[in-house]
Amino acid sequence: AYVVTDGCIRCKYQDCVEVCPVDCFYEGETMLVIHPDECIDCGVCEPECPADAIVSAADARADRWLPVNAKYAAIWPNITDKGPVPDDADAWKDVPGKEKFLFS
Ligand code: SF4
Ligand code: F3S
Repeated sequence: AYVVTDGCIRCKYQDCVEVCPVDCFYEGETMLVIHPDECIDCGVCEPECPADAIVSAADARADRWLPVNAKYAAIWPNITDKGPVPDDADAWKDVPGKEKFLFS
């Protein structure tokens, strides 16, 4: 599976949603996650993310975030169309360590 990491937090560009052939993205307040059991590993979303937030499960950056994706994909609503992008998304794009903003 592919995994959304903390780079998505407060950016939520949603370009990933536009290209996913199986609509396996789920939307939280500050970020999206991928349902690990629904993702077919096509990889097309990974280069689309302006925040470079999507990684393969084989990437070390996925270790922390795969369980987060699995947990919240089961709770948050499915998203299949791109909605409004946060006004300050670009300002947050390169901020490191955004996990503390996951729920704020
Ligand atoms: Fe969707 Fe493919 Fe990305 Fe998986 S790798 S989330 S199937 S676009
Ligand atoms: Fe997030 Fe990147 Fe998608 S910022 S919403 S993973 S395009």
